[in-house]
Amino acid sequence: MTENKALHPTTIIIFGATGDLAKRKLFPAFYNLYIDGRMPKGFNIVALGRADNTNEYFKNYIKENLEHFSRKKITSEDWAGFQAHITYFQHQLDEEDSYKNLYQKLKDFDRVYGTRGNRLFYLSIGPNFVSTISNHIKNTSLASDAKKDRIIIEKPFGHDKQSAIELNSLLAETFEEEQIYRIDHYLGKETVQNILAFRFGNSIFEPLWDRKHIESVQITVAEEVGVETRGSFYEQTGALRDMIQNHLLQILCMVAMEPPASLESGEIRDRKVDVLKSIRRISEDQVDHYAVRGQYGKGVVNGVKAKAYRQEEGIAEDSNTETFAAVKFYLDNERWQDVPFYVRTGKKMKEKHSYITVQFKPLPHSTFSESSQHLSANRLIINIQPLMDIRLQFMAKKPGLSLVLKPVEMIFDNFACQEDTPEAYETLLLDALLGDLTLFMRSDQVEEAWDVVKTIQEAWQDGKASFPNYEAGSWGPEESVALVERQGHNWV
Ligand code: BG6
Repeated sequence: MTENKALHPTTIIIFGATGDLAKRKLFPAFYNLYIDGRMPKGFNIVALGRADNTNEYFKNYIKENLEHFSRKKITSEDWAGFQAHITYFQHQLDEEDSYKNLYQKLKDFDRVYGTRGNRLFYLSIGPNFVSTISNHIKNTSLASDAKKDRIIIEKPFGHDKQSAIELNSLLAETFEEEQIYRIDHYLGKETVQNILAFRFGNSIFEPLWDRKHIESVQITVAEEVGVETRGSFYEQTGALRDMIQNHLLQILCMVAMEPPASLESGEIRDRKVDVLKSIRRISEDQVDHYAVRGQYGKGVVNGVKAKAYRQEEGIAEDSNTETFAAVKFYLDNERWQDVPFYVRTGKKMKEKHSYITVQFKPLPHSTFSESSQHLSANRLIINIQPLMDIRLQFMAKKPGLSLVLKPVEMIFDNFACQEDTPEAYETLLLDALLGDLTLFMRSDQVEEAWDVVKTIQEAWQDGKASFPNYEAGSWGPEESVALVERQGHNWV
């Protein structure tokens, strides 16, 4: 987000460099930043993995994957330049000696620079290893310079409020809060960042952005994919923890936050925490009223037959894990009192589509007769992906001799401005290299977000659901429709 910060020589240390995230997202992001001239002048990527790979083998593996996952084309010239910055290093996460060797290696790099470069530790590993790695980093003084060293941690950050608090205090033994970059990749998406520009860079929307003018807000993140190869992880996670506690609540914060006094990261993060604090907590006996869970059975997604969740690899035959979740939230504050915020997400849904709908109130009185047209209330749709646009829906006169109205749309299309937009990870990694924390989650944000979903989490853990309750390739369980219809609304 910040343009006025400088890049300094940096060694990037990736724990879990042979894993899925590294090959699909991290290396492609670094490669694209490199091509765009956005990497520091001096940088090294130290790729850590358990296997005894040679450098050459690892680099070939990365190159093959770049061919699939890189946004920009691979040219032999760019690759030759980029690969020279990568070193593979065999490493055992739980062995102290591995960290001592790593310490030596990093010192060697510093000697080459003639200065102690920044260090960016990327934990692209399962959540169970975070404490082990953080303790070893501390014991071996790998991150001894609070001004130069940073750590990036992937979600899930803990599995509930208590574990997040414990993890935060454990990390605090080694790192200052300003050194910790808790990643939520949705915040790096172009269209999500654009919410700030749209709301606070214009004078016409903000005066309407409140309970007087807005009827309801909906946030949908629908996926076509199922759990792929991540069955055992997902069994322990479910849609509420995997998506709502982080991605959807972060989007909600962007839509609902008060205008920040400046673009300083602390200021923006404060305003987001205010939103999370104002979300009304759902009491245990009201969970069924405010939240709906689902799990997909077999069906057809995009013309292809899909198995039921319980038939996927690594999933229990009687699994109680939800692959769909919808929740109605209320915010107890002056701006949003009584405006429902509906959020929903699901796997194996009818189509991949993430979007925000801001539904404005209907006209209090219509000048037009019933016969001229049913007047649809105004609606603003922010499409996050795969469409990336903002649409304002309003009524207009249908061309012709009679006075008949019809709903029309005004569209701002991101692709029309720029066909090739950076991936979320490019934005976020560049920010981490620059030392800009704005798009990362602060400890209190994460804890507060866990607190918001706490009672739902507990009720769903304890209570057995009658799953499956939606067909793969549909829009989720019937109950999620009832959740919004009770208030006279519909999912858009
Ligand atoms: C991840 C979740 O954080 O986000 C996945 O763990 C989900 O389950 C993914 O599929 C969705 O991300 P995107 O960018 O593909 O919408």
